[in-house]
Amino acid sequence: MAGQIPQRFIDDLLARVDVVEVVGERVKLKKTGRNHSGLCPFHQEKSPSFTVSADKQFYHCFGCGAHGNALRFLMEYDKLRFPEAVEQLAARLGLEVPREGADDPRAQARERKRKEGVNLLELAASFFRERLRMPEGQGARDYLERRGLSPEVVRDFGIGYAPDAWEGLKRHLGERGIGEAVQVEYGLLVHREDSGRTYDRFRDRVIFPIRDIRGRTIAFGGRVLGDAKPKYLNSPETPVFHKGRELYGLFEARQANPRLERLVIVEGYMDVVALAQFGIRNAVATLGTATTEDHLSRLFRMVDEVVFCFDGDRAGRQAATRALETVLPQMIDGRQARFLFLPEGEDPDTLVRREGAEAFEDRVTCASPLSEFLFEQAAEGRDLARLEERERYASRVLGAIGRLPEGVLKSLLLAELSRRTGVDQSDFESLMAAERPSGHEAEPPPEASPATQAPVWQGEEQGAGRAGSLGLMARVLQLLVHEPGLVERLPEDEDWCDDGAPDGRLCREVVRLLKAGRYRSAQVLLAHFHGTAEGERLAALARRELLIPAAARATELEGLVEHFRRHQRRRSPQEAFDALLARERAGERLSREERQRLMALLMELKG
Ligand code: UTP
Ligand code: MN
Repeated sequence: MAGQIPQRFIDDLLARVDVVEVVGERVKLKKTGRNHSGLCPFHQEKSPSFTVSADKQFYHCFGCGAHGNALRFLMEYDKLRFPEAVEQLAARLGLEVPREGADDPRAQARERKRKEGVNLLELAASFFRERLRMPEGQGARDYLERRGLSPEVVRDFGIGYAPDAWEGLKRHLGERGIGEAVQVEYGLLVHREDSGRTYDRFRDRVIFPIRDIRGRTIAFGGRVLGDAKPKYLNSPETPVFHKGRELYGLFEARQANPRLERLVIVEGYMDVVALAQFGIRNAVATLGTATTEDHLSRLFRMVDEVVFCFDGDRAGRQAATRALETVLPQMIDGRQARFLFLPEGEDPDTLVRREGAEAFEDRVTCASPLSEFLFEQAAEGRDLARLEERERYASRVLGAIGRLPEGVLKSLLLAELSRRTGVDQSDFESLMAAERPSGHEAEPPPEASPATQAPVWQGEEQGAGRAGSLGLMARVLQLLVHEPGLVERLPEDEDWCDDGAPDGRLCREVVRLLKAGRYRSAQVLLAHFHGTAEGERLAALARRELLIPAAARATELEGLVEHFRRHQRRRSPQEAFDALLARERAGERLSREERQRLMALLMELKG
C-alpha cells in the first residue's frame, strides 16, 4: 500500500474543487436560488429533493438523507474508495497526490514495483489481443465464433489469443526491455527449476484478461481451444493478483452500468461473457475458487443484492451451502442474497443460449431468498414429523441465525423458525444468548462502569496536564477517530447511542459511516466532515493524544457502550419514544429497526 495522503492536501483539494461542478457532471442540476437541485441519484424519486450548495460545498438529499462533500459524492456515486476519489479530484486539478512517507525508499520501491507490474501486464494484454487479430489467431477466432461470441463482446472483455509458441510473449516483452525475472514474478513465464529454462505460461489458448475495478489488467485466464487438459489455466498468485479477492467481470459490469443494483455470481469466464453476449451484463465469476468473504465484501460495497448461481447437482448444492455460510455474517439490513439453482447439466452459458435472456432473467428474479434456502437446506433429508429430526433441524437453523448480524432479518428468521417448529421464540432467544461466548448479557456490577470507576489510564490523561477529562460519548468518538477499526467491536444496533447526550448525534453518524465500510481511516472521516462544526470537533479529538494502551481500547469501548445501554434501559418508554420521534422530525432517516421500535413504543404507550 502506498503511504497516507497528507490531510493538508485533502483540505486543499476540497477548498479548490467545486462540488456543484463535480455533481453537475453526473446529475442534471437546476439553479434554485442560492442552491442547485435535481433528482437524487441515490434513491428513486420523481420530484427533486436533492440539493447542492456552492456556499457550503455540500450536497444533501431531503428524501433519503444522503449528504456530504465532493469526495463523499465521488465515493458514493462512482463507488470509489477514498484514495481513488482523492486521485480523481486531484486529476481534475492536474495535481499529483502526495503520500506521506513517500520518500521512504521501501515505499518507493513498492510503488515502482506496482507500476512495473501493471505496465507489464498491459503490454501482455495488448500482445494477446493483437495475436487474435493476426493470421495465427484464426483458430481462436473460429473457436470464439463457434461459442457464439460477437466481436463487440470480444472487444469489451479484451479477449485475446496466446500463440502456439514457447517464447512468443517472452520475446515480445524482452524486446521491450522487460527482464525475465519480473515476467516470472507476474506469472507470464514459467520457470523450470531443473533446467533453469523459462517459457510462456499461456500457449495456444484463448486469453481472458482479469481486470481490477479500475480496469487495470492484473492477471489472465486461458482456455484451450480443444479438449486438452487443463481446460483453463490461470495466472498464479502475484504481487497484484489474489484469487480469493478478485472477480472476473466486475470491471466490465461496472462499465456497462455504473449504477448496478444486483450482481450475479457464476462459476466461469465463459458464463460471464455468454451472459454479456445476451445483454445480461451484471455477472461476475470467482476464479476457480469458492466465494470468499473478501469477494462478498467487495460486491456488497457496490450493490445491495447478490445472486449466487449454482449447478443443480450435488456439488452445486454443496457449494451453495458453503456460500450460505460465508454470506451470513455480512447480511446487514438492506442487503439481499439469493440462490439460483440451474437445471442439471446446464451452466449459465448453455442455459442462456437455449432459453434466451428473458427466461434467464426470470430465473434470476425468482431465485430463492436466503431465508428460504436456509430453511430448505436445514430440512434436506429430514423427516420433520419426527421429534429428534425436528430438533436437529431447529438447531441447524439456529446455528445459521446465530451467525447473522443483529437486525431485522435475524428477528424475522427467529420468528419464522418458531412458527415452523412451534417452539416459543423467546426460548430460541435464550438458547442463543446462552451459547454466546462471553457473558456480555450479564449486568456487571455498577462499580465496573467507566463512569464511576476511572480506568487506570485516566489518571495519566489528566496527569498529562490536559484540559479536563472528556465526556463519555466523546471518549467513544476519540477511540473511533484514533482507531476506526474498533467499530467492529460495536453492536449492530445503535440504540446505545443517545442523541440527547453531548456528542451523541455526531457519534451516531460516525458509527454509521464507519459501519458502511468505506471510512476506515481517520483521514477519511475528517475529510467527510471537513468545514463543519463536527469536523472541528473530530479534528480536536484526533489531535488529542489517546493515552489508552492499544490492548485495552476494545474493552474500554465495550465498557462505554455497556454503560450507555444500562442508562438507556432506565429510560422510560415515553422518553425513548420522544427521542426517536424528535430525530425523525429533524429529518433524519431512521433505520428499519428504529422505525419498528418507534411503532412498538407507540403501541406500548397507547395500550
Ligand atoms: P468449468 O469447467 O465449469 O468451465 O469451470 P466452463 O466455465 O463451463 O467453461 P467452458 O464452458 O467449458 O469453456 C468453471 C471455472 O473453473 C475454473 C475456471 O475459472 C472456469 O471458468 N477452472 C476450470 C480452472 O481454473 N481450471 C480448469 O481446468 C477448469
Ligand atoms: Mn461452460
